[in-house]
Amino acid sequence: MQAMTKPFLTVLKDQTSQRVPFWLMRQAGRYLPEYRDLRAQAGGFLDMVYNPAFACEVTLQPLRRFGMDAAILFSDILVIPHALGQGLTFEVGEGPRLPPIRDENGLKELNLDKIDTVLNPVYETVAKIREELKAEGFDQTALIGFAGAPWTVATYMVEGSGSKEFLHVKGWAYRDPAGFQKLIDIVTETTIHYLSRQAESGAEALQLFDSWAGVLDEKQFARWVIAPTKKIIAALKRIHPDIPIIGFPRGAGFLYERYARETGVDALGLDQTVPLAQATALQKICPVQGNLDPACLLSGGPEMEARITEILTALSDGPFIFNLGHGVIKDTPVVHVERLARIIEAFKR
Ligand code: CP3
Repeated sequence: MQAMTKPFLTVLKDQTSQRVPFWLMRQAGRYLPEYRDLRAQAGGFLDMVYNPAFACEVTLQPLRRFGMDAAILFSDILVIPHALGQGLTFEVGEGPRLPPIRDENGLKELNLDKIDTVLNPVYETVAKIREELKAEGFDQTALIGFAGAPWTVATYMVEGSGSKEFLHVKGWAYRDPAGFQKLIDIVTETTIHYLSRQAESGAEALQLFDSWAGVLDEKQFARWVIAPTKKIIAALKRIHPDIPIIGFPRGAGFLYERYARETGVDALGLDQTVPLAQATALQKICPVQGNLDPACLLSGGPEMEARITEILTALSDGPFIFNLGHGVIKDTPVVHVERLARIIEAFKR
């Protein structure tokens, strides 16, 4: 007997599945006590990311509790600058720190030749997760590989940390677009290679996180978000024609439609600011994924339950994957996530 296609992958092929599949961005992480325990054992965050046994284990933790339809590789978007030779540290409670690259001269620090010496453990993790999903009987669960999109990765490389205004990276892009293009090209090439290796290692779908797509004007969005994303997708489709790719241009607002039409993505991740009427319109172009406000999940109660049902009701007639509009917040009570999982499972169209 032929195995049934996993519901998450069915939806990515633009078909509706019998039930609505779900997973949550940042489903592995600090809101889970078992994650905090393992992180304490591993030492630092990057020690976890580059250790296939640890990374595989934390990937599976949320599935054992909540039964998501997809696992997401445990890694980080900033392994790309790290593999290119830019220093990277995660200070507890502070987020990432990198020695910033502020102009074309700074690109000399980057080296494309040795990325796999850093990234090999990540590919090993991907293969290990596939084995472990099988061993633990998760045969309806798909594995998502991912990378940051070039614009978002570049914001961290240039700012050197998280940012509110992005003045260094925008400044470079406006002042010297040809020089900034070289940085975007380096990240684009590296990302194509990195995602292609994840697909070879067993990832069944890929997601491109463009967390800071929403801070650009239309013209800059076309150049730094749409163009590199299109290039990555075209290259990946040449190597792996069947792998579905989800694009998540967080905060893109009115530009979501243009992104969906021009990049070649198979599906769109929607943040919580996208109105359900716009989500339904976008769903006519391609499958959509989203978009519960993570703060609503944090808060819980009847408001959360009502919102989950509203989203399901609005979007479940078309190809739809339930998710949050951004990552799970670290103080989110585990019981709220349990409740969310039960509501989605019980939902009937
Ligand atoms: O469960 C999953 O979603 C898979 C793993 C994953 C992580 N980061 C683990 C992580 C994924 C898909 C990411 C993506 C990521 N990383 C993004 C894009 C999505 C988004 O959130 O916008 C970005 C911008 C990053 C960069 C990054 N990594 C920041 C800004 C931070 C610090 C903020 C924070 O929450 O601490 C990280 C650290 C990080 N990445 C943690 C985890 C579980 C927390 C590390 C810890 O254990 O202390």
